[in-house]
Amino acid sequence: MGKIIVFANQKGGVGKTTTTVNIGAYLAEADKKTLLVDFDPQGNLTSSLGVNSNKSGIYEVIMGKSEITSTIQSTYHKKLFVLSSNINLSGASVELVNVPNREFYLKKELDKVKNNFDYILIDCPPSLGLITLNGFAAADKVIVPLQCEFFALEGFFKMLFETIKRIQKTLNPSLTIAGIVFTMYDSRTRLGNDVIDKVKTVFQKHPELIFKTIIPRNVKLSEAPSHGKTINQYAPNSNGALSYKELAMEVLNNV
Ligand SMILES: Nc1ncnc2c1ncn2[C@@H]1O[C@H](COP(=O)(O)OP(=O)(O)O)[C@@H](O)[C@H]1O
Ligand SMILES: [Mg+2]
Repeated sequence: MGKIIVFANQKGGVGKTTTTVNIGAYLAEADKKTLLVDFDPQGNLTSSLGVNSNKSGIYEVIMGKSEITSTIQSTYHKKLFVLSSNINLSGASVELVNVPNREFYLKKELDKVKNNFDYILIDCPPSLGLITLNGFAAADKVIVPLQCEFFALEGFFKMLFETIKRIQKTLNPSLTIAGIVFTMYDSRTRLGNDVIDKVKTVFQKHPELIFKTIIPRNVKLSEAPSHGKTINQYAPNSNGALSYKELAMEVLNNV
């Protein structure tokens, strides 16, 4: 049965999409059938893969306008699939607000295809609104990308300890934290090391909740999406690529 992993952090620009798409690319390369769910109305994951965002996508699926299996699109790799997104998805949080079980619309759909994939990775928007709650409700595990920069920790532990605990108590008792992944690390700045030290101190008793692989700041990672390519297509020998490959292997072995 497939594992469903949600990538979440209420801050924007921390590397959620980059991490989701590139872990997915390396899982597919490792012969794991992987479905990427672009669950952000900004559609960044969709464009990172060079996939058509005008077709029906996750919005039409959760609103019952399109059937999930026929909406899943193929990509450059035969093991990698995507449910695309576009700005229409922003309507979902309004349309669902007064319906019963509004947090379970994504889960209901993903459960239909869970057995067809080894991994389903969900990329969330930068908020803890109804869309992200649907992501949490649907998932088995959560991975939290954390940017190695100033302000990164603001609200971070609150989200991790309070929000996720609340979700476990209410929406999804079986949700567990797979780990925190440090992104955009720059070894030349003290700030990055400070953030890492701080998190490691808080997690002294649970070092297994921090991924060993640290993703460096790497320009190739920021260029790849503008070419509609994953990092293993765009610059497979770059530091960014090697790091995401290593991270994907950690996910494969430990999550
Ligand atoms: N390790 C990295 N090095 C350099 N640029 C990065 C890295 N990770 C992400 N980026 C860039 O930073 C921006 C924000 O990343 P993104 O993955 O879109 O974050 P989020 O999904 O959390 O908003 C994007 O322009 C992306 O290309
Ligand atoms: Mg994003």
